[in-house]
Amino acid sequence: MEKLRRSMLFVPGGNEKIFSKALGLDADALILDLEDAVALERKEEARDFVEKRLGETDFGHKEKVVRINPLESPFGYPDLCAVVPARPDALVVPKVNSVRDVWLVDGIVTQIERARRMPEGGIKLILLIETVLSVLNAVDIASCTPRVSGLLFGPADLTLETRGSITAERQELNYAMSRIVMAARAAGVDAIDQPHLDVRDAEGNVRAARQARDFGFDGKACIHPSQIAAINQAFTPSKEDIEFSRRVIKAFRQASAEGKGAVQVDGKLVEILHVQMAERVLKIAAMAGVCD
Ligand code: COA
Ligand code: MG
Repeated sequence: MEKLRRSMLFVPGGNEKIFSKALGLDADALILDLEDAVALERKEEARDFVEKRLGETDFGHKEKVVRINPLESPFGYPDLCAVVPARPDALVVPKVNSVRDVWLVDGIVTQIERARRMPEGGIKLILLIETVLSVLNAVDIASCTPRVSGLLFGPADLTLETRGSITAERQELNYAMSRIVMAARAAGVDAIDQPHLDVRDAEGNVRAARQARDFGFDGKACIHPSQIAAINQAFTPSKEDIEFSRRVIKAFRQASAEGKGAVQVDGKLVEILHVQMAERVLKIAAMAGVCD
């Protein structure tokens, strides 16, 4: 994890009002969408909008991300030609099935970077895992090029293929969620959960964010401003987490100096793996600016 991706806010490409509003919100990343949030008749207009805004807007600390259309559609290739020279930090690639699909995007982005004399490999890929094949091939596609920096779960499209249905507890999605986290960890990339699609259901958003965190996800996408704070909170260590992590590290150091490999903190066993977990908590807390 090079930068925080706790909350990644989708912003429909071409909507000036929503875009301006998004810039002032507290999301770690903005995903300017050229795919499903844009009607077929407005694809060109949205692409022009995103290209222009990427070039001229100060995004501050927010990661600049664009979701392109699939390369199988007539829009995917023109999206890449317009957006890559405008230097987003990352592209979200939808409808990926196999390593070949990722290499195709990687190859086109590399060619544009070379032609424009841009740093090669600078623009990262976040792969949408939203087809049955992408779930099954997740480990291979996550690790097939260093350009991949994340996997984003897309259960709505996935469920169209599996013919299931999505319930509040998401039990039916456990296999895919777990597989995405495992693949992301094996490849050393981020795992990002889907947005909660019912924007009025604040409780459901909180529950889903905590569930994703407990699975090991690094963050969660969102579609509405009201969802951001709860997601940031779920993926930011609490005061108690930070304080406990510090005590774990301290206690283990003391124990090591006394030649012991294990110690108790608040009655809980602490070994070297717990120290590694505690160090990770403190690293995320420092990145989030909630401890030094
Ligand atoms: N980013 C930034 N601002 C947003 C926003 C977003 N994704 N969604 C809504 N807002 C703004 C609205 O413009 C409005 O601003 P205002 O108070 O200054 O007028 C405010 O938040 C409240 O919005 P609200 O009236 O509750 O919602 P809406 O009817 O305007 O929009 C959606 C609802 C779902 C259409 C909208 O949130 C949206 O388009 N989300 C993204 C959808 C998307 O990208 N989908 C693809 C990925 S799944
Ligand atoms: Mg989709």
